[in-house]
Amino acid sequence: MNAAEQIASKQNAGYRAAGMVEDGMVVGLGTGSTVFFAMERLGERIAEDGLCIAGVPTSYQAAIRARQYGIPLTSLDEHPKLDIAIDGADQIDPGLVLIKGRGAALLREKCVCDAAKKVLIVVDGTKMVETLDALVPVEVLPFASAPVFQRLALLGGSPIVREAVKKDGPVVTDNGNFILDCDFGAVPDPRALEAAIASIPGALECGLFTAYGEKIMVIVGEEKGCRVVSLR
Ligand code: A5P
Repeated sequence: MNAAEQIASKQNAGYRAAGMVEDGMVVGLGTGSTVFFAMERLGERIAEDGLCIAGVPTSYQAAIRARQYGIPLTSLDEHPKLDIAIDGADQIDPGLVLIKGRGAALLREKCVCDAAKKVLIVVDGTKMVETLDALVPVEVLPFASAPVFQRLALLGGSPIVREAVKKDGPVVTDNGNFILDCDFGAVPDPRALEAAIASIPGALECGLFTAYGEKIMVIVGEEKGCRVVSLR
């Protein structure tokens, strides 16, 4: 897939997802370049058709972009349950288990995914794999980063502190934490790995999303159109 085809695929996926949002909905707004297209289309629907929605952003990036597109914002405080969420992903397996967190937004993304009744994952076809093998990001409390690092190494994750670009030192997330990128190689049992990471005090969340397959609909953008993947 060349760059132009990839952009067209992301746009098709994002626009399809935006078309599934209905008047009055509260919408989780994910992070990343594919969700931008969904937000762009939602902004058009608000401006042209008077669509009335509110968005819960998963990151500063999502909040800034939503404001640019004229999407009113709200919070999980106001709306602990969301009608729908639209988000991207870094890898997706046939059971609709996701790896997320390339953009370091995984902690809020998982909160929003959990709160949403339905989750639309928008991707291009490069994200679909038979077995997950991408880096698994773990958001870590800085206070406990050394012991968490050791525990992740014992699990076989070969952790590396994610380094910032245009800032010296580690990436600091929107929540004030660090990210440890873990290379487990192929992940044949993502549920067990997610549970093992969750058992480490100070490991606040990991990028494995194993519990949401039943409510996820994956919209795979293609150069012309989309295909939809769900477990139902
Ligand atoms: C953000 O932390 C990730 O979970 C994103 O959702 C993911 O990286 C998708 O980004 P793209 O749509 O740009 O590939």
